[in-house]
Amino acid sequence: MIIFSDMKPVDYELLKKQVEAAKTEYLLSFLCNVAALINESMEDLNWAGFYFVKDDKLILGPFQGKAACVEIAKGKGVCGTAWLRDQTVLVADVHQFPGHIACDSASNSEIVIPIHKDNEVIAVLDIDSPLYERFSEEDKEGLENIVSVIEKAINVMPSSGLI
Ligand code: SME
Repeated sequence: MIIFSDMKPVDYELLKKQVEAAKTEYLLSFLCNVAALINESMEDLNWAGFYFVKDDKLILGPFQGKAACVEIAKGKGVCGTAWLRDQTVLVADVHQFPGHIACDSASNSEIVIPIHKDNEVIAVLDIDSPLYERFSEEDKEGLENIVSVIEKAINVMPSSGLI
């Protein structure tokens, strides 16, 4: 499918600087601001936020967008698949993705990137768009760089640094 779009390219260098500037010792506060920064920087999104790994599930974290499902099992949906595979999952058309979890019916494409601490996946970054094929390889690379900044920030936070 060819989509003609006048979508502004994302300035990932600027976003990276903004995320670096948002670093704090408080994990939840930091990720609230990262979700807001991503949502402001990227056009045509309907959801941007985080799920945290807790035991054998993902639990909803800070986000921008409509209310979303609270728990996702490992291997389920795009988020659970990115966690299970421990790799970025880029979905051009969520309706073709087996087991996609439709929290917001406006979503048509999605990208999910795992976040690590001590070589374990501890969370995922999930971004949804109402456009089909919204996320390119360039977005994947740019967002993986942003996740590296998040991982470095999390590494130096106190282990219980939620608030
Ligand atoms: N669509 C996701 C569920 C989370 S919402 O998009 C916020 C999935 O299939 O894992």
